[in-house]
Amino acid sequence: MKLLITGFNGFVAGSIIAQAKGDWEIHGIGRTENPIDEPGIYYHSLDLLDSESFNALFKEIAPDAVIHAAAMANIDICQANQEQAEQTNVEVTKMIAKACQEHDVKMVFCSTDTIFDGLKGDYIESDKPNGINYYAQTKIRAEEIVLSASPKNAVGRLALVMGIPVIGKGNSFLADTISKLEQGIQVPFPENEIRTPIDVITLGAALKELAGNQFGGIIHLGGSTKINRYEMGLVIAKALGYSSELILSTNSNAMPGRAPRAEDASMDNSLAKRILKTPMLTLAEGLTLTLNFNAKK
Ligand SMILES: NC(=O)c1ccc[n+]([C@@H]2O[C@H](COP(=O)([O-])OP(=O)(O)OC[C@H]3O[C@@H](n4cnc5c(N)ncnc54)[C@H](OP(=O)(O)O)[C@@H]3O)[C@@H](O)[C@H]2O)c1
Repeated sequence: MKLLITGFNGFVAGSIIAQAKGDWEIHGIGRTENPIDEPGIYYHSLDLLDSESFNALFKEIAPDAVIHAAAMANIDICQANQEQAEQTNVEVTKMIAKACQEHDVKMVFCSTDTIFDGLKGDYIESDKPNGINYYAQTKIRAEEIVLSASPKNAVGRLALVMGIPVIGKGNSFLADTISKLEQGIQVPFPENEIRTPIDVITLGAALKELAGNQFGGIIHLGGSTKINRYEMGLVIAKALGYSSELILSTNSNAMPGRAPRAEDASMDNSLAKRILKTPMLTLAEGLTLTLNFNAKK
């Protein structure tokens, strides 16, 4: 069985690759260098904005499932470059959904908790999205495309992802935090943002499971601890043995020039707990898992 993963050099994809290798023949699409040279893993260097090359490659690989993890994922960059965000997050998703539909292939799409406006919290899958920044709005449009393309497609709404990159690099706030704490640099965390963070190892396992199971529809992939990001920073510092004085409280919606952030984007993970074999963890369990996973490598 062949699994095609986009965003191959990214943070989330690295965990999917590490856990799917051996079980799937893995094909990855990325724009930079091959992050892993191992048997059974095939790297395809491609800009997803090149639809002709993508469609030819898709036919050549003939995947059994696709996990679409590539995106313009930086909220402020999306806000400042809306046309590029639209092309990357919406049009590319449309192209992949169409290819999957034509070849009757299941697509798993990586969406986000920030499709919600953050006024309510504890969101369930049927709650109405209301994106308050451009990134979120592109993800809402992309979700609709993926869901309408086939009932077998899955939209995983990812909570804030916490972890150390397993393969490749990508945007890991934990790796950045550890590097700063090691140097004694203070790290700001927004106290106004409440999240249900998920560790990257659990997330990779859940996305791999969704690629291989029969679930179709929306599923919230979040951890079992609801916490504001400043308190989360304190938990991380304590777990790693650093002083709490290195963690600073900020308000992300009081910083000029930044796109608005959803405040309480916490998600209810009851459906994931019911449907998936992959257990959804608490913050402390997830932190231990991601730190140990990398230590064992
Ligand atoms: N990390 C989180 O906390 C989080 C939370 C919620 C949802 N998500 C979603 O989860 C997914 C994975 O996130 P991540 O943290 O792994 O992001 P990431 O580390 O930024 O990885 C995204 C990857 O997409 C690739 N990409 C972007 N445009 C491309 C294009 N035109 N052609 C080919 N590749 C392209 C990037 O390649 P380059 O390296 O070449 O730019 C990058 O490797 C994204 O859809 C993101 O929106 C993430």
